[in-house]
Amino acid sequence: MSSASESGAPVVHRSGRLSWHDRLLDVRDTILANPGFQRFAAAFPLTRPIARRRANDLFDLCAGFVYSQILLSCVRLRLFDHLADEPQSAALLSSRMSLPLEETVLLLDAAVSLRLAQRRSGGRYGLGSLGAALRGNPGVAAMIEHHAMLYADLKDPVALLRGQNDPGQLAQYWPYAGREKPSDLSSAAIAPYTALMSASQPMIAQQVIAAYSFQKHRCLLDVGGGDGAFLTAVAAHAPKLRLVLFDLPAVADKASERFRANGLSSRAVAMGGSFLTDRLPEGADVVSLVRIVHDHDDANVMTLLAKVRAALPQDGTLVLAEPISGERGTEPIADAYFAFYLLAMGSGRPRSFPRLQQMLADAGFSDAIRLPPRMPLLTTVIIARP
Ligand SMILES: C[S@@+](CC[C@H](N)C(=O)[O-])C[C@H]1O[C@@H](n2cnc3c(N)ncnc32)[C@H](O)[C@@H]1O
Repeated sequence: MSSASESGAPVVHRSGRLSWHDRLLDVRDTILANPGFQRFAAAFPLTRPIARRRANDLFDLCAGFVYSQILLSCVRLRLFDHLADEPQSAALLSSRMSLPLEETVLLLDAAVSLRLAQRRSGGRYGLGSLGAALRGNPGVAAMIEHHAMLYADLKDPVALLRGQNDPGQLAQYWPYAGREKPSDLSSAAIAPYTALMSASQPMIAQQVIAAYSFQKHRCLLDVGGGDGAFLTAVAAHAPKLRLVLFDLPAVADKASERFRANGLSSRAVAMGGSFLTDRLPEGADVVSLVRIVHDHDDANVMTLLAKVRAALPQDGTLVLAEPISGERGTEPIADAYFAFYLLAMGSGRPRSFPRLQQMLADAGFSDAIRLPPRMPLLTTVIIARP
């Protein structure tokens, strides 16, 4: 008997025999797959709620792509903006969204069923609980638009898994992934992904800053820091902290602009280069890697971690923030969403905390700990010391 480990190598169980746990699960599977049992479970009052929940879960898995496209329609037609101030009639929304009335009602009813919208008095529609949450978070709307590319790349998921697809839209969108000389990327090539990262950064920065206080440090080096959105957010919480950003040259230029525009030029500097081939700037007592490691294959991660280790003093700190695989309650986010996203992008993988701990230890870091997350769905924060 064999199964796949996180490193991809098959795990062979020595005895080759099924454990009691395996046998129990086999019995369970046989019962659940039995049409007679399914009929019984749906009819019997004690099992009916479980049977219904399971049937709903299964249906949601089958229909998830339709729900996503309804969400995309709402975002593209700016439905949540139209509903933001006060409830609206379908007729008014029909003219605002330039949709026929019948299709407007169809979209609104679909949005109501998904808690994106809600029926209000007088036959009008308002924001639903999920629509309201989304409206307060422009980064999520940007990601929903961005998913059109992932949707296209996942058209034939089996071919993707078999490595038979030509590089798709995501591979072009993230041009540094797998590129020999990413430092050459032009301003036009990095602009779309840098803007997307910037739009989704506030919710990440909020989580990282809530988990870890940068105030006790002198100087923070943010490696792969994008256009400086993360450092700008940290700057507001740690007024004495000096800030250094390192990213590809065209991205670092954008960060310099942001630092200037935010009046941070006296304590923030952006430097260009590749963290795979160039030395990282020295002098910081804390280095952050925010949404960086999962983008890269193991060999490149080890190169990067070695450079971070070399740039930090002995009493320095590494702060690593990204979605982690195998986190209880959020498994589908890293293990399904990010795993397939990164597969389509052509580089990197989500990793579990034990795997990251091992990689950090191999790169010369010790005492890696995971800080209690507020919202592990978005990011988990790990700190480690040289
Ligand atoms: C997923 S984005 C994350 C950006 C930012 N940390 C955030 O969370 O918003 C990855 C960043 O790593 C940068 N990057 C990728 N490869 C790089 C390399 N070889 N050297 C320097 N930066 C690199 C990209 O330009 C991009 O800004």
